[in-house]
Amino acid sequence: MTAEYKVNGAVAVITLNNPPVNGLGHATRSAIVEGMKKALSDNAVKAVVITGAGKAFSGGADIKEFNSPKASAEPSLHTVINVIETSSKPVVAAIHSVAMGGGLELALGCHYRVAAPGAQIALPEVKLGILPGAGGTQRLPRVVGLEMALNMIVSGTPVPSEKLAKTALFNQLAEGDLMEAAVAFANKVADVRPLPKVRDIKIDYPNYEGFLQFSRNTVKAMAGPFPAPLKCVEAVAAAVTMKFDDGIKFERDLFVELVQTTESKALRHAFFGERAATKVPDVPEDTPTRPIKSAAVIGAGTMGGGIAMNFANAGIPVTILEMKQEALDKGLATIRKNYENTMKKGKLTPEKFEQRVGLIKGTLSYEEIGQADIVIEAVFEDIGVKEQVFKKLDEVMKQGAILASNTSTLDVDKIASFTKRPQDVIGLHFFSPANVMKLLEIVRGAKTGKDVLATSLQLSKKIKKTGVVSGVCDGFIGNRMIEQYSRQAGFLLEEGCLPEQVDKAIEKFGFAMGPFRMGDLAGNDIGWYIRKRRYIEKPEVTYSKTADLLCEMGRFGQKTGAGWYDYKPGDRKPYPSQVVNDMIIKHSADLGIERRKISDQEIVERLVYALVNEGANILEEGIAMRASDIDMVYLTGYGFPLFRGGPMFYADTVGLQNVMMSIEKYAKGHQGVAWKPAQLLAKLAAEGKTFN
Ligand code: 3HC
Ligand code: NAI
Repeated sequence: MTAEYKVNGAVAVITLNNPPVNGLGHATRSAIVEGMKKALSDNAVKAVVITGAGKAFSGGADIKEFNSPKASAEPSLHTVINVIETSSKPVVAAIHSVAMGGGLELALGCHYRVAAPGAQIALPEVKLGILPGAGGTQRLPRVVGLEMALNMIVSGTPVPSEKLAKTALFNQLAEGDLMEAAVAFANKVADVRPLPKVRDIKIDYPNYEGFLQFSRNTVKAMAGPFPAPLKCVEAVAAAVTMKFDDGIKFERDLFVELVQTTESKALRHAFFGERAATKVPDVPEDTPTRPIKSAAVIGAGTMGGGIAMNFANAGIPVTILEMKQEALDKGLATIRKNYENTMKKGKLTPEKFEQRVGLIKGTLSYEEIGQADIVIEAVFEDIGVKEQVFKKLDEVMKQGAILASNTSTLDVDKIASFTKRPQDVIGLHFFSPANVMKLLEIVRGAKTGKDVLATSLQLSKKIKKTGVVSGVCDGFIGNRMIEQYSRQAGFLLEEGCLPEQVDKAIEKFGFAMGPFRMGDLAGNDIGWYIRKRRYIEKPEVTYSKTADLLCEMGRFGQKTGAGWYDYKPGDRKPYPSQVVNDMIIKHSADLGIERRKISDQEIVERLVYALVNEGANILEEGIAMRASDIDMVYLTGYGFPLFRGGPMFYADTVGLQNVMMSIEKYAKGHQGVAWKPAQLLAKLAAEGKTFN
């Protein structure tokens, strides 16, 4: 039963019981109505209390039901709320832990609300690209005021119940046992009539027009490609400008409109994608994990420093090991400076600054790290250096320690073979800057222990990363795909594009940064180094030589003051470069290519479908467990536009047959050999199916 019914003296208690968060799916909604019917027909019952079992009052409508007939099947949430609001006996919501979305709307339909302190109160629908669709936009302003309601609805941010204690949202904040307080409250108000209804409260805000106009302007400027935030303002405005029932209808229409948008579907995909990524079919949730109370990092360079900060931020002491004192001092100084900058921006208190810096130690001696629960290697990307380090780690680390590598391209199984404990070895691939970027690729080797994988997934949560499991292959999920994207970007230059055209087209599509601006930021020499290896190892794979020519000119990017673009001292803004553009045009001529005008659509399709096609290969090979994992990698690590849901989800929205047709067309063009349609893509397209 998804809601339990019990009678406690003169009070009936309906307890939502739909784990994990008492989502208001069809069965739960029906059970609430059943409970209400029982309470209303039982003469001994004078009042009703509604609460939630487990870890939430209610997390809201069941998002999994959206876009399915169950979502609107009767009793709808509107009907449930109506049954409660029009009940002839008082209904009290007993709120604890979480009251979000439809959960809060349900509570707003009750006559009274008693809350425990520390409960998270929110209308977070906007984060899913929708708006509260069961009266939230009409009722919340009536109890917490227009401004506060608008802020809560437009931001979706939870507010702790004690912060709302003085508003009409709560009749009582229960310091002791919540249920005792709620039942006592229900007994107290059992005979009070008329029953108070939030819908009857008048919103008192004389200059509401000015405020709403101001809100429209600010929200419009911040909403980007998402339609929901502005619709939230319009719905809240209706709470002041329309009669209650008209406002409810207006809100409902906007909800129905938004729930069908691709932007909302993309946000919901990301919500579930993030949670699905933590699940590995053969590693059940009860797999034992190893405690991580201390950590060590090898190498205090760009990555090592950022990785160490993640541990300190999570309160875990970490020791960084370097070869030379100078490199160690430099690394520690960079970390300190990073924290100082955060403190200067007011985002870190002096106490926290001291605490975090105090958790990071430096050493030159392996003996000092032997007792760490986990060690993450972030030394040069060279298999010989990795071999030395892992042999040493095998000697000094205590039994049971996790030995991780931050390698971006090297074979984790080979690295594991340098030790006598391959079950303890795993790849933990952070992204630069490692203290900022959300993505953590967790690379599962052939012999990685299940407990090591489970611990790594748990750790990713602890250090606030989105952990995505990848199998072992060159570049793992993210970099293996980006290579195909970069190859297309290079070929586009040979055929007729200039860097700024490519960057602008893909940035207009929504990417945070185009491939050439990105190259200048990350350093073009990194790709050069990788390609030189590829030319030997995989001579059959073709690349545009333009990027090599650029590096031969010494133009490594921002760090050398020049890359695909020119840079002025102290200014990160890219300026189109005449010398580079001349070099590109000359290179086309040297290849005998007649340059042509290329549309933005072609640029976007070639870059994005290159990701999709390789993503399909990765999925088919089992390197990624599911398409949404690939999307999470791209949303959290590569600046893929969130409103498009990730490359695989985007391909689904375009239609896989359309993607296939374009790929087949490009396969006939310049460097068409780069387009070998993935079998999985071809199969799904032929069957009219999708990745997700
Ligand atoms: N519907 C369906 N499933 C939900 C859900 C919901 N509203 N909220 C959470 N879940 C599921 C998650 O998918 C996850 O499932 P899994 O275990 O199978 O992966 C499980 O509940 C636990 O979720 P979390 O890992 O996020 O648990 P936390 O304890 O960290 O957080 C939470 C709990 C704060 C409730 C968080 O899950 C959350 O923010 N949920 C979304 C809340 C939301 O957006 N509600 C509005 C829904 S839309 C709505 O109500 C429309 C209405 O206005 C008509
Ligand atoms: P880096 O060159 O900035 O830092 C490497 C550090 O390791 C240097 O400080 C060096 O002194 C130290 N070091 C080298 N050999 C050592 C040894 N034997 N013992 C102890 N310290 C040693 O390199 P970066 O960029 O930090 O990369 C490190 C690793 O992280 C590489 O495997 C790289 O592929 C990977 N990586 C890099 C990313 C990036 O964007 N820079 C992103 C993700 C992974």
